[in-house]
Amino acid sequence: MKIGLFDSGIGGTTILEAAKQAFPHEEYFYIADSKNCPYGEKSSLELQKIVSKNVDELQNWGAEIIIIACNTATTRCISYLRNKYPKIQFIGTEPAIKLATESNSQNILVMATPGTIKSERTKTLLKENQKPDQIIQLLPCPHLADTIEHNYNDHNFAPIIDTLKTIFSEVQTTPDTIVLGCTHYSLIKDQIHSFFQHAKLIDGNQGVIHQLGKLIKNSQKH
Ligand code: DGL
Repeated sequence: MKIGLFDSGIGGTTILEAAKQAFPHEEYFYIADSKNCPYGEKSSLELQKIVSKNVDELQNWGAEIIIIACNTATTRCISYLRNKYPKIQFIGTEPAIKLATESNSQNILVMATPGTIKSERTKTLLKENQKPDQIIQLLPCPHLADTIEHNYNDHNFAPIIDTLKTIFSEVQTTPDTIVLGCTHYSLIKDQIHSFFQHAKLIDGNQGVIHQLGKLIKNSQKH
């Protein structure tokens, strides 16, 4: 099958690699839309135009399944895209709040772009999954994704650490679990761990791969 993925840059490559490993015989197309990074700081209207352009391009390449390898585009645009492109099967990536709350975590920190934190989908995920004894802190991380986008490939970690320092100064308690609610953050697990050594870091990538497996299997039946 032809599978398209897009993100505002390199963040979604962790999903691309996991997909290739799990399903090596499928054909993959990836758009690293770094010229529009950061998505997390865009208005809904701007974002809808940007994601539609990516989907049009992937559709032109013949993609039958499109993985939105970006939490921001998923939480803010997946319903819009499903309505606009009914023939395409979309898989979204969303903050793994459900997974975090299902474990015995007591103190969960959700890191995501300002756009994802503000989204209705994030509010719903909290409402549906938070247990009464769990503390969940939502932490908007302005400009962390673009700092990673512009420095990670050059192994220039100092600006990333500086941005993390500013962002983490807002964290009052020590989390036992950190949800990486932006695909770019999966690339800097070591740097995040250097601030919270004992925290378990989780992202939504396995959920995406699981969903992809189901769609591939389904298509083989037809
Ligand atoms: N990688 C993205 C996400 O998962 C987008 C970050 C951004 O461009 O702001 O949210």
